[in-house]
Amino acid sequence: MAKRQSALESVEIIMDFYKGKRVFLTGHTGFKGSWLSQILITAGAEVKGYALAPQTEPALFNLLGLQNKMQSVIADIRDGEKLASEMAAFKPDIVLHLAAQPLVRLSYAEPVLTFETNVNGTINMFEAARKVKSVRAVINVTSDKCYENRETDTPYKETDPVGGFDPYSCSKGVSELITACYRNSYFNPKDYTGTHETAVASCRAGNVIGGGDYALDRIVPDCARAISQGFDIVLRNPRATRPWQHVLEPLLGYLLLAKKLYSDVGYASGWNFGPEQGDIRTVEDLVQRFTAAWEKGKYVVRPDTKLHEAKLLHLDITKAKELLKWKPVYNFDKAVDITARWYKNFYAGENIAAFTEKQIGEYIKSYGKLI
Ligand SMILES: NC(=O)c1ccc[n+]([C@@H]2O[C@H](COP(=O)([O-])OP(=O)(O)OC[C@H]3O[C@@H](n4cnc5c(N)ncnc54)[C@H](O)[C@@H]3O)[C@@H](O)[C@H]2O)c1
Repeated sequence: MAKRQSALESVEIIMDFYKGKRVFLTGHTGFKGSWLSQILITAGAEVKGYALAPQTEPALFNLLGLQNKMQSVIADIRDGEKLASEMAAFKPDIVLHLAAQPLVRLSYAEPVLTFETNVNGTINMFEAARKVKSVRAVINVTSDKCYENRETDTPYKETDPVGGFDPYSCSKGVSELITACYRNSYFNPKDYTGTHETAVASCRAGNVIGGGDYALDRIVPDCARAISQGFDIVLRNPRATRPWQHVLEPLLGYLLLAKKLYSDVGYASGWNFGPEQGDIRTVEDLVQRFTAAWEKGKYVVRPDTKLHEAKLLHLDITKAKELLKWKPVYNFDKAVDITARWYKNFYAGENIAAFTEKQIGEYIKSYGKLI
């Protein structure tokens, strides 16, 4: 295991590392994938994405013009042969796996689609990576929901058992087990530089917020849609707590981790990325702050208890802070404020691609100030 470190890793060093690196990114057309593609492009990486066409209208992928800035393959992660041939043709240094069916409520309606995408898709990704010798680092992005949820105040550590009540959470728990299986069976750290040169890790991030998310049944897009159309925001679960964080926080964590994995197999394990404990807040706190930042919008509470959704989710981020030298930059208020500003600017017709790049630049500057 890597040694304990004291200071934060310089963001310039992280960005410099990606200059010219070949990164294969699944899920590049989605919310997190679009932000991540933009950061990698800004850093000067060669990026090849593999995902379905954007599934929302509008979509951040289109707003950022990413189809013209990177190689973009529109294909299904369940098609293992296609995925393997696209990865083999690209010969990546790093594979970041984000493609998934990521919605809890949709997973109740579409369990087969959810398991096929999130479980078989993960297997296909590892099988593809196994055949490409250039791959030095693989990160599988799962979720905070991969843990067996005890509904207590005790935050989950990386060593806690995985589980999952609903099909989405369960699929991410299984994706974690598959990651551990491939790491043990084919990418074992003990055989590193012997039979293989690939370090494999997984990341469990909390609920991310940020501009450009248009998914259904997620609270921030729900707020943005309601405010922009003059409707009340409907809260199903106002008292539920979530580890909210700005989308840039875990993304920088993934990039830092992949950089470490590239040359040190000691980092090949599971990692939590979440906010500080004081920033774990309720859905209602989020909506109150969001409407205040936008200076518009009101909400009503209409409880919906038909589908079980986790009420308490806390992540222990000690490992990432101590061993990776990663740290959240923005507190809850700042994360919500800049998210509301993004949507407000978008609906006001601002150049949102330029504004998104500005938010990335500001984040990098703020990260630098922590060092
Ligand atoms: N957004 C969050 O709060 C959050 C929290 C924890 C974990 N995650 C995880 O992060 C990852 C990205 O989430 P997101 O919020 O950007 O979701 P998103 O729905 O915006 O993006 C999902 C991406 O996966 C791709 N995809 C879905 N099905 C596919 C298929 N069959 N074949 C190929 N590509 C497919 C989509 O095309 C899209 O590019 C997911 O793995 C998700 O589970 C997200």
